[in-house]
Amino acid sequence: MLQSMERLLDRMSFLEPLADVLQKIFGDALSRGGEPAKAVKDLLNGVWFEHPLHPALTDVPIGAWTSAVFLDLVGCGDRRVARASDALVGLGCIGAVGAALSGAADWQDTYGKERRTGLAHALLNSTALGLFATSFVLRKAGSRAAGVTCSLAGYAVTLGAAYLGGDLIFRMGTQVNRNAWTEGPEEWTAALPEADLEEGKPCRGKAGDAAVLLLRQNGRIYAMSAVCPHAGGPLDEGTIEGNTVICPWHASQFELASGSIVHGPATVSPPLYETRVQNGQVEVRRITD
Ligand code: FES
Repeated sequence: MLQSMERLLDRMSFLEPLADVLQKIFGDALSRGGEPAKAVKDLLNGVWFEHPLHPALTDVPIGAWTSAVFLDLVGCGDRRVARASDALVGLGCIGAVGAALSGAADWQDTYGKERRTGLAHALLNSTALGLFATSFVLRKAGSRAAGVTCSLAGYAVTLGAAYLGGDLIFRMGTQVNRNAWTEGPEEWTAALPEADLEEGKPCRGKAGDAAVLLLRQNGRIYAMSAVCPHAGGPLDEGTIEGNTVICPWHASQFELASGSIVHGPATVSPPLYETRVQNGQVEVRRITD
């Protein structure tokens, strides 16, 4: 059934116009909102957390709703168990709002099938949230049987949405650190002839398997991975702003000297290298600390 759902997604081109509209609305709000809007997006992406926030937050609704459904099934009419179950349904709804906001922030920087799958994931989760919210209201109104039925329906939808969420990460690599397996040499390794390096102009070098961004600025040579950890954007084609580089794809901004993240959506710093010039070559060595 789940594989059929994926095949269906492959054909769901009708989601594209909706995705375009939503990304435009979010994008316009971001550009109009300036630095405060960027700060909110960084918060939701999880820059402060140095980890994507969305997968951490989704544990709240899934955990709470799983527990609620379990208590509904085994509670056998016990009023205290029923109250606990109702509270868990409410807690899950609150957690789902946070998960939805953080997921929307991540989804804003996706394309193609990843974007389509993300949107289907969001629509299913919104449906599940609607069903659990309805369940909560029904329970509070005394219609317990109808409330429990809504919860069960919501939980089935949640499972489908969770499957798509897993698909996004484990099959499509959304939000996976693009430098996880290529960290660069720990020994001094030639990356680029020094003559190719012009003041203030970022260049792409190669040290072993690692693509390296090199920049000469005010007499110092900076080096970090040329692969943006967020989705693999070419940092050597990015914009240099002061002592930072801005990724050309989704504008993650990194300090050249420390690799620290100034703005997301990246939540992991790129590998950083120290540099020296030997025999006309710029050599780099991974900073492991
Ligand atoms: S690839 Fe997305 S910010 Fe660089």
